[in-house]
Amino acid sequence: MATAEPGDEVQARLQRWRMQSDAALAAALDGLDGTEPRLLAAMRHAVLLGGKRMRPLLVHASGYACGADDATLAAPAAAVELVHAYSLVHDDLPAMDDDALRRGQPTVHVAFDEATAILAGDALQALAFSALARAPSSDAARIGMLAELAGAAGAAGMCGGQAFDLAATGKGGPHHFSGQADQVLEAARRKSDSDPLSFLERLHAMKTGALLRAAVRLGAIAADADARVRTALDAYAEALGLAFQIRDDLLDIEGDSATLGKTAGKDVAQDKATFPALLGVDASRARLRALAQAMSDALATCPGDTAPLAALGRQAIERDH
Ligand code: IPE
Ligand code: IPE
Ligand code: MG
Ligand code: MG
Ligand code: MG
Repeated sequence: MATAEPGDEVQARLQRWRMQSDAALAAALDGLDGTEPRLLAAMRHAVLLGGKRMRPLLVHASGYACGADDATLAAPAAAVELVHAYSLVHDDLPAMDDDALRRGQPTVHVAFDEATAILAGDALQALAFSALARAPSSDAARIGMLAELAGAAGAAGMCGGQAFDLAATGKGGPHHFSGQADQVLEAARRKSDSDPLSFLERLHAMKTGALLRAAVRLGAIAADADARVRTALDAYAEALGLAFQIRDDLLDIEGDSATLGKTAGKDVAQDKATFPALLGVDASRARLRALAQAMSDALATCPGDTAPLAALGRQAIERDH
């Protein structure tokens, strides 16, 4: 029998973690017996019908690199995906991006209704913290993971990034925000973002990077990794988070709706603040190449088997959906 190539082994490992994550998510939802049926159906629709599962895979890959076993990582992996799924339900609402297609399915507010979509998102976020609170880790690790996920989901992370995204939408792209910018953009500028590119980097780091970085950190916390390893993983996650959203921005232009499972061309139509809108497609691609290098530089300083993390980094940059 032929020995599996290392690359095949990594893919098989990722596939196994994907199946474990799907099972943990299904189990978390199955535990909601007695929930109002329409709300539960909307939650299941949001979580169980597809998705790349990038964030749970990152929890597993990071925890594995730091020596944690799969059983320890199942709860944090499910928790971060539940927060992500909630963020997508709310991102798609008419009051936000007003999208009708997600993961190849009607969005939750289209398949159900707006009020149900709002409640499903809220309840998924609560379910995430409830699952994480039951993680089979030490009290210190569990509290550390709860604090990490809360910080990444909240005003300083995903929600804050979404607020910047909405504030920048329809302003003629991020390069125009200095003139007639509204108060939020002015405040962002005064605080630390002296130019449009650093504003956009911060927006992306918050709306998308925060949860991806939290995924990597949850694995490290569950494994009780030391400070040197955490610093290396943070550098990897920082680059991955920005790369993931730049690729998302490029796919909105270069992808087709069938492959993406969401409507292509929406960012341009809605005048969203994106990397291609600010820098153009070529410069955005060049930035992706630099971020790929930053990821491998960071992983080179990290002990343990980082091959799955490297594969996920490549996937973030090369993905077609
Ligand atoms: C989409 O995330 C939203 C962004 C943060 C860019 P994903 O591309 O990970 O979506 P799924 O989970 O695979 O559907
Ligand atoms: C979404 O960014 C980020 C979050 C959901 C927090 P986008 O609005 O670009 O994501 P898509 O393109 O709708 O998946
Ligand atoms: Mg959005
Ligand atoms: Mg969107
Ligand atoms: Mg997008």
